[in-house]
Amino acid sequence: MDRFIKKAKQLRGQIVTPPDKSISHRAVIFASLANGSSVIKNFLWAKDPLSSLNSMRLLGVDIEITETKEIVVHGKGLKSLIEPDNVIDCGNSGTTMRLLSGILAGQSFFSVLTGDDSLRQRPMKRIVTPLSLMGATVIGRDGNRLPPLAIKGGSIKGIDYDMPIASAQVKSAILLAGLFAQGKTSVSEPYKSRDHTEKMLKSMGAELEIDGNRIEISPLREELKSLDISIPGDFSSAAFFIAAASLVKDSEVLIKDVCLNNTRTGLMDVLINMGANISVINKREQAGELLGDLLIRSSEKLKGTLIEGNIIPRLIDEFPILCVIASQAEGVTVIKDAKDLRAKESDRIKAMTTELNKMGVDIHELDDGVEIKGPCKIKAAEVYSYKDHRIAMALSIAALIADGETKIKDAECVDISFPEFYNLLEMLQH
Ligand code: S3P
Repeated sequence: MDRFIKKAKQLRGQIVTPPDKSISHRAVIFASLANGSSVIKNFLWAKDPLSSLNSMRLLGVDIEITETKEIVVHGKGLKSLIEPDNVIDCGNSGTTMRLLSGILAGQSFFSVLTGDDSLRQRPMKRIVTPLSLMGATVIGRDGNRLPPLAIKGGSIKGIDYDMPIASAQVKSAILLAGLFAQGKTSVSEPYKSRDHTEKMLKSMGAELEIDGNRIEISPLREELKSLDISIPGDFSSAAFFIAAASLVKDSEVLIKDVCLNNTRTGLMDVLINMGANISVINKREQAGELLGDLLIRSSEKLKGTLIEGNIIPRLIDEFPILCVIASQAEGVTVIKDAKDLRAKESDRIKAMTTELNKMGVDIHELDDGVEIKGPCKIKAAEVYSYKDHRIAMALSIAALIADGETKIKDAECVDISFPEFYNLLEMLQH
């Protein structure tokens, strides 16, 4: 489905942020391993977390959905999963495939994980290598590099593993396998990535020791305790509205219930540094995560900046929208050390460079990022989402400040993480 978006006069009003995608995945997956019934409120009803829910059902977990859309997961303990009678379809979701691989490495049965055209092109060696070192058999296409993955595990042992790149999905896969391993498992990453797995597993009684970027997990002495969680709002979804309100003139938008976990909010630090007008109000805690409301007013003037190093994992999913923001900043913005963006739902470096070029942005591709010279006058164009939800949303925000009407091809992919995106965008326009 294509979307047509015209220049916006102003954005005004308030929205509630949709539930966090990363936390929704983890809640339904981890609750499936617990002993007892877990209640998950405010689950993200979007394609990606539903891939995790359906996968856990295929592994024999009894998951109930109540009339009020709460999820009740009837977990029967760490050893309760059963051999699926079909391949597990992870859809578009790298999180589902990589986290499940960690769990399946601990099972003595046979399973196969596959996904859509995009997921079957995403690199899996990063999990195949550590899980094989632990003793699981994990094989895939193209020399174990690509899905589908076939897994047969069972008696696995703990390892000390240095991850070559920061990745919460890889870290989580190893830690989950560690729950089933003999002996302790440790994992170190070059920069700290999102820590929802550590937080949630700890709250369920897992023994985790965290020392800087190194995490050690011990095999469980008892079963994991069930969860009672209300999922906080997704900063990565809020990011599109933070950008929209900052870029569209005369705007004032209140974004409610945003999870402000420090491993996720790099974009806010960058934007404040660039001169954006953002206030955090009503800070509180929910489900062990920091939560707040964000009041965004249009930015008077933004200045270009350099984004590199350890902030990259803290804004990895915000790269597409950051490119749009940088196009309106005065001077040069460089984003580097972010080569892994080429291995997301699309090659996000190439996608944003190609599509923003069509809209008149002075953006150049680097091997590991981009260079953007602003401010640029944005013009409407026919642009492509690459069936990548974050590309579609970022281009939609660019369209709000473009002269004319922009056509976004294959825009329905926003359903992966944010089905309400276009409704909310329309609601704020006056
Ligand atoms: C995620 C981790 C990140 C992120 C993805 C969600 C997670 O991926 O890009 O959208 O939920 O753990 P990587 O671990 O590959 O960096």
